[in-house]
Amino acid sequence: MLMATSCSVPFEYRLHASAAELPEADRALLQAAHDAALRAYAPYSKFLVGAALRTKKGEMFTGNNQENASFPAGICAERTALHAAMSLDRDTVVETMAVVVPSVKGDRPVSPCGICRQALLEQEVRQSRAPIRLLMGAPDGPVVELKSAGALLPLSFDASFLNG
Ligand code: THU
Repeated sequence: MLMATSCSVPFEYRLHASAAELPEADRALLQAAHDAALRAYAPYSKFLVGAALRTKKGEMFTGNNQENASFPAGICAERTALHAAMSLDRDTVVETMAVVVPSVKGDRPVSPCGICRQALLEQEVRQSRAPIRLLMGAPDGPVVELKSAGALLPLSFDASFLNG
């Protein structure tokens, strides 16, 4: 009789008690994401989200959620920032993305939704699997740091299935 095998996927993240522990460049990214959140268009959910990413070239791009009266037409902050960067230069390598929701305080910060996780994974594939570091939290509070956005999607779907 065949036996089932139990498998597990390691999931590691770092919880920084305060953003003050992080390098200046990371704090600047968190601050930019915070400021972007305040420019969000979220009249329906009133849930303001900001994202800021830093590229390998050292450029910064920001985004925020843009909602729509036809709710599914809205887009999240993470993808707004990602697409802003990629639409200017298709070879952009994203090194770090910060996600900030100013209304959510504490050590359980908002992390990207499922669709954004898929979009970030696609970006990692696109940049030859160079990991996108994620910072989630506040410029003046706790921050969760993840080495790779792809880690948020174990057993994920990517282009390798299409080409097989
Ligand atoms: N939202 C984001 O922008 N990013 C996330 O990671 C979670 C959700 C937005 C989508 C919608 O405009 C609002 O937050 C409520 O879901």
